[in-house]
Amino acid sequence: QVMKELFGINELEKELSQLLGIKEVIVVPGDTDQSNWVKKEIGRAGARVLQQLSIENQIVAVTGGSSVLAVAEMLTPSTVLKSTTFVPTRGGLDEAVELGANYIASMMAKKTGGRYRLLHVPDQLSPEAYEMLMKEQHIEKTLAYLKKSRIVLHGIGDAKKMALRRKSSPEVIKKLEQGEAVGEFFGYYINSKGQIIHRIPMVGLQLENLDQVELSIAVAGGTSKAEAIKAICSLSSVHVLITDEGAAEAILKKS
Ligand code: BG6
Repeated sequence: QVMKELFGINELEKELSQLLGIKEVIVVPGDTDQSNWVKKEIGRAGARVLQQLSIENQIVAVTGGSSVLAVAEMLTPSTVLKSTTFVPTRGGLDEAVELGANYIASMMAKKTGGRYRLLHVPDQLSPEAYEMLMKEQHIEKTLAYLKKSRIVLHGIGDAKKMALRRKSSPEVIKKLEQGEAVGEFFGYYINSKGQIIHRIPMVGLQLENLDQVELSIAVAGGTSKAEAIKAICSLSSVHVLITDEGAAEAILKKS
């Protein structure tokens, strides 16, 4: 706390919370773009917030991404988290396994002593395959868990970077460029006005379901994510944003 005051971080948190209309904003010192160590600090703050806001027997939905992974790495066992079930918001993405929501949900359970469920459904299914998989009991049950999530913990991505990381086709990349997409979350690509430019068809938590979730916690830092964070916070109701000084300063400067 003393350090935060020293760096004027409390002020940044207050200003950002007002600008974005988010109840609680936590800013960690530094810039994720400059040092990976800052992402670890975002993870530490994320783990602390999750512990604090948790209640017994809750369901926590988690997305993929390196920022949510950083939260998973910092989690430790606690009474409430031991009775928590972690569920991935979606099945597969064309990403590295460690960055996938399934892997992260299982890791959170392992770190906390909690439970987890997996969602074995690839994205971009054919209608026939979709029909068939939806009849699978295991999948049905996981989707039912997702709908009952009390907390959702998600990352926010830079649109271009996410499209490249997912090895999107040149057509999709062109669509994103033409639509001036700046941010991405849950497979939705958003422009600076908060409009959806493109979405990856998927099984799992949809944007509409987010309104039913009691608490949404977003973790994203780095100057390069400023536009993305602003856009997504204008579209979705984020209750707690955990970010870094780099992003916070860039968001406030550009507004
Ligand atoms: C993805 C999530 O896996 O990670 C997205 O589905 C998010 O919601 C993205 O935008 C962010 O990744 P990172 O590595 O920048 O935290």
